[in-house]
Amino acid sequence: MKILYIGGGYVGTCSAAVSADSGHEVLVYDNDKEKIERLSSLKKEAIESCLFEEGLSEFIIRNEKRLKFSNNYDDVKFFIDEAWAIFMCLPTPEKDESGETNLSYYESACEQLAQVLSGRNGGLQKNHILIVNKSTVPIEMVDRTSQILDKYGVKNYGVGSNPEFLVEGKAIEGSTRPQRVVVGAWEKEDFEIFRDIYKRFYDSPSTIYIEVNPLEAAAGKLLANYFLFNKVVNCFDVAGRTCENFSNLHYENVRKILISDKRIGDWGFYDSLYAGGSCYIKDARSLAHQLSAKGVNADMITNTLQANSRQLELFLNRPEKELNFNWQGKKIGLFGLAFKRDTNDIRNSAAIGVVKFLLEKNVDLINAYDPAAGEYFKKYFADHAKSEKIKIVIREDEAIAGADVLIIATDWPQFRELSENIKVNLKPGGLIMDGRRTLHGEYDELKKAGFSIIAVGSK
Ligand SMILES: NC(=O)c1ccc[n+]([C@@H]2O[C@H](COP(=O)([O-])OP(=O)(O)OC[C@H]3O[C@@H](n4cnc5c(N)ncnc54)[C@H](O)[C@@H]3O)[C@@H](O)[C@H]2O)c1
Repeated sequence: MKILYIGGGYVGTCSAAVSADSGHEVLVYDNDKEKIERLSSLKKEAIESCLFEEGLSEFIIRNEKRLKFSNNYDDVKFFIDEAWAIFMCLPTPEKDESGETNLSYYESACEQLAQVLSGRNGGLQKNHILIVNKSTVPIEMVDRTSQILDKYGVKNYGVGSNPEFLVEGKAIEGSTRPQRVVVGAWEKEDFEIFRDIYKRFYDSPSTIYIEVNPLEAAAGKLLANYFLFNKVVNCFDVAGRTCENFSNLHYENVRKILISDKRIGDWGFYDSLYAGGSCYIKDARSLAHQLSAKGVNADMITNTLQANSRQLELFLNRPEKELNFNWQGKKIGLFGLAFKRDTNDIRNSAAIGVVKFLLEKNVDLINAYDPAAGEYFKKYFADHAKSEKIKIVIREDEAIAGADVLIIATDWPQFRELSENIKVNLKPGGLIMDGRRTLHGEYDELKKAGFSIIAVGSK
């Protein structure tokens, strides 16, 4: 089956690669020329420099014959003559912090597509074609997709929703063995197209295949993200804060008690300075915005968002409050720029908030290190990097050498091994701020070595 993906980011490229691996003939169109060049290079390093996902480059290279990338719309025009489905994998960021979704990327891609579809056979598609929202969109978005297609006189099409549940950093593993596949459509023939696309999972005993209407699919995605976000935030804002405010409470011990109850479950039970990423915050705000627009109280969601921001502020303010610390003129080693381990995605990463805070406090220099996200971080803070306030370093010891403060902001597993490096390279008596409890087994020893420690979840 021929399938077109519009938007070749994390979602578009990962799911296109899995479709190609399932035997489909796939084209990914993206209007970012540089990204397309890297993705079609068949070189691991080039692919990973734009999308760092465990196993993705191997997948793309392995499926080279069935998976093509293009930034030329002529290829799209040619390809859709025989395509059965078109997946819209476009960014749906917020307009501002109000939660209203910026649909401009989605709508302009949809308009461009509708123009091409309407130019064929007077708009009447030879094969019934399914247009799928794979982006995370407002619940009623599918109606907007239809409006655009109808405006251009496109006929013989269906609209569907197939929300993406991938976990960044584990996208390929998760997409080849998904826990569930959710497809939303109105028409029987659209469900049949979905079943052909996802035959591999429809028939699988280990995947729950859920067929619902497109609004339910979109709502399910937003609500699932809210529940996960709330659990993570609840964990650090309530459990973490409790441990921070009583002596002799070890977060890891308290956690053992909590997660031994199956009803509570063990997912999301880490303490952290902030939950970032491209989805949780944006999707929670979007859900709150949509509920408020219906006149419904969304305080529960708003409180979760506030609790998330509060944790980062509290963490960063602890040195001044607890140690009478003065940030001015200090040299900082910042570890972890991606929003979490195993990805180079810096969207809403805790490190962005950390750096903004440090710049406001007029520190002297920030040596920032990440195993994968340095390039994107440098672009984000390009002006400050030019003024040499921020240096992206490529080795761990460069970030620690002579620093007054070391801050860990991402849970990369290799940071667990930092303590020896710290003992040798961090300024004597320096401050360690562990925003992920990465070094929790070493706190006593590091204190003995003369360092001060401020860790989330510890007094
Ligand atoms: N990243 C995740 O973990 C994740 C998980 C589930 C759902 N989602 C949702 O999936 C959607 C896409 O997310 P993403 O992380 O892949 O975003 P992304 O920014 O990585 O990718 C989007 C791509 O669309 C391209 N694009 C923008 N306008 C275009 C146009 N007019 N024509 C063609 N290409 C265009 C961009 O160049 C970019 O490569 C969002 O709605 C997001 O909320 C993301």
